[in-house]
Amino acid sequence: MRQQRLIILGATGSVGESTAQVVESVRDRVGIDGLVAHRSGERLWDLGRRLEASWVGLTDASAAAAVAAAHLGVRPRVVGGMDAIVEAIRSSPADRVMAAMSGFSGLVPTLAAIERGMDILLANKETLVAAGELVTSRARQTGSRIIPVDSEHSAIFQCLAAAQPPLRVILTCSGGPFRGRRQSDLEHVRPADALNHPTWNMGRKITIDTATLMNKGLEIIEAHWLFGLDYERIGVIVHPESIVHSMVEFEDGAIMAQLGEPDMRVPIEVAMAWPERWAVPVPHLSLVGRSLTFEAPDEKTFPALALARSAGETGGLYPCALNAANEVAVEQFLSGRLAFLNIATLVQSVLNTGDWGGRADSLDAILECDARARAAAASLSTV
Ligand SMILES: NC(=O)c1ccc[n+]([C@@H]2O[C@H](COP(=O)([O-])OP(=O)(O)OC[C@H]3O[C@@H](n4cnc5c(N)ncnc54)[C@H](OP(=O)(O)O)[C@@H]3O)[C@@H](O)[C@H]2O)c1
Repeated sequence: MRQQRLIILGATGSVGESTAQVVESVRDRVGIDGLVAHRSGERLWDLGRRLEASWVGLTDASAAAAVAAAHLGVRPRVVGGMDAIVEAIRSSPADRVMAAMSGFSGLVPTLAAIERGMDILLANKETLVAAGELVTSRARQTGSRIIPVDSEHSAIFQCLAAAQPPLRVILTCSGGPFRGRRQSDLEHVRPADALNHPTWNMGRKITIDTATLMNKGLEIIEAHWLFGLDYERIGVIVHPESIVHSMVEFEDGAIMAQLGEPDMRVPIEVAMAWPERWAVPVPHLSLVGRSLTFEAPDEKTFPALALARSAGETGGLYPCALNAANEVAVEQFLSGRLAFLNIATLVQSVLNTGDWGGRADSLDAILECDARARAAAASLSTV
């Protein structure tokens, strides 16, 4: 059996930790080449020892220097700063990368892996939202496969295994912690309320995105690029139990769905093993006595959903600007400087004020747009 060699970007995060658990249960099939995080130095180092990585990389160079000094001459090798991490990816023998850094920070190392033709197991949806055209066209040219890890897109990927053309896809959505509330109920929401997700245990940024429904909006754009579908063929349905992970409808009216307990280790394993399936230690679903319910999303209370869909439909640099403004707004909400309802308002203002009509087909254009939208969001939020 040939062993895959894997790099994990965002190894200390929620998806990164679930990936490590899957790898530990299939050690004969997957070996770890490198692990990357931002500044959680000692945690990354311990994980590197546990998974016998060849190298660990921290984008924060001073955090990397501290870890290297504390473990002089001991494997794994420590790499510091984004440039050195990109170099380590370029010279790595790995054939796969788990892209699970949070936010826009995942774009540059993911592109470096695509340039080497490595397969991308993609959790980091912001990479496709900000740079979908560039990422998918470079992947086609280098032969790099992009296999979704986001549970909804993994479900659609599995339902499309027979290669029959879909009429439309239906992304399921838990509704987040504020399902059923009205705008007037959400005026004084605190970060702790918004971080209390009913079904999924995830990192802070994506958890806030699920509370505003921006996450589902980002996933609409992600689905557009992953499956090559026009926006009118991508629907959303609220399903509070998070058991049906998404659905595909075909011309004859048949709907295929993928079901399971909400546990990221399953889509991670699917992406690693595809087209095989490996036994991994996850809870299996029993449907006896379970009720599955569905309802339409409340786009009036949660305007971020329509905002993201509209940015995706407009195209150009709009999705990149939307993503950057949202990252700034979420950070400000989490640090108590922006009200919950103003997250969507701030994103809307950034989209209204800037010129985001340019082409999103080069890394330079995307980096420039990201920086400009972040600056616009920062200045508008202080007004
Ligand atoms: N969690 C889920 O269940 C889930 C499901 C579907 C999709 N996703 C997507 O997967 C991605 C990761 O989500 P998560 O919930 O795992 O996030 P998380 O728990 O917040 O972890 C983020 C990871 O990215 C690293 N990171 C953050 N900023 C970085 C930077 N500037 N440079 C390098 N590394 C950086 C963090 O390192 P430090 O620890 O050093 O800060 C950490 O390892 C997101 O794009 C999210 O939308 C997540």
